[in-house]
Amino acid sequence: MSQVLGIETSCDETGIAVVSGGVRVVAQQVASQVETHAVFGGVVPEIASRRHTECIHQLTAKTLADAGGEIDAVAATSGPGLMGSLLVGVNFAKALAYSWSVPYVPVHHLEGHIFSVFLTENPPDFPFLALIVSGGHTCLVNCPKPHHYTILGSTRDDAVGESFDKVARLLGLPYPGGPSIQKAAETGDPKAVDFPTAMNQGDSLEFSYSGLKTAVLYDVRGNGHDTADVAASFQHAAIEQLLTKTKAALARTKARTLVVAGGVAANALLRERAQRELDAAVHIPPLNLCLDNGAMIAAAGYSRWRHGYTGGLADSANPALALTE
Ligand code: KG4
Ligand code: ZN
Repeated sequence: MSQVLGIETSCDETGIAVVSGGVRVVAQQVASQVETHAVFGGVVPEIASRRHTECIHQLTAKTLADAGGEIDAVAATSGPGLMGSLLVGVNFAKALAYSWSVPYVPVHHLEGHIFSVFLTENPPDFPFLALIVSGGHTCLVNCPKPHHYTILGSTRDDAVGESFDKVARLLGLPYPGGPSIQKAAETGDPKAVDFPTAMNQGDSLEFSYSGLKTAVLYDVRGNGHDTADVAASFQHAAIEQLLTKTKAALARTKARTLVVAGGVAANALLRERAQRELDAAVHIPPLNLCLDNGAMIAAAGYSRWRHGYTGGLADSANPALALTE
């Protein structure tokens, strides 16, 4: 089976993995920078790229030693993300591909998230609808066949993960906000505060999270609600909006299969409600594959390589790369 090395450095995780046949993780390493950035309450781009530079060589050497065997292609996230961070992974990948005389395969970060689902025991078949929910993106994507995507709706302002991070900050909870809000919400009442759930805009599939964030801000300033109650009520509203729009997209596309991927797909409430309430076969990868990792990039890279979409050594990173390019 062909082995692809996947490299992810678009934000604050250095993810390296070897994936066999596009479906089996042979070895992987993830170095999270969460503790470094937590003191600042968010990711500091300059520090992020330096940390990638410091650890990428060692993590790759360890992953390759664990995997053994030859590498047939090297894939890296080429965008979107932080430019300095992306460049570390892209240049490292191109250097390896050149020295091994194998193809370099640039991968869109969100395509990586979509392909994380093929590393699970029960992968879906195309066509499917994908709900991608991360720190930088919130979108519904129609996926008729590999590497052909149509964006049905995305966020007009904040991404859902970003809203978890910002609201956590308002509530004095640690970065990253997703896990800390989920934890605080465990003891709270999701009906305590009636936060806005979805934009009232007909059948639009667009998302908006800045109004919800502002509503939390006013509540924190004006009312003496318990932090756990605010966290639970915010989480309820944030997830409700995702489910409402996804239901509408399923109805519109008549899709029978749904993939939920990205960091926010690690959220327990979303996982549970999506499985229970949506009228589709719902595929959500395990937690470690929801968060940024190299394996999802290797899986997408394998498929791109097999479909003839390889890159060249002159290719650079693109912090604003579109999924449909
Ligand atoms: O996909 P990801 O690792 O990085 C990006 O591509 O952005 O997603 C990170 C985002 C962060 O905003 C984080 O707060 C959120 O995923 N997240 C969660 C949970 N775990 C991570 N959001 C809600 N609930 C969680 N359990
Ligand atoms: Zn991501």
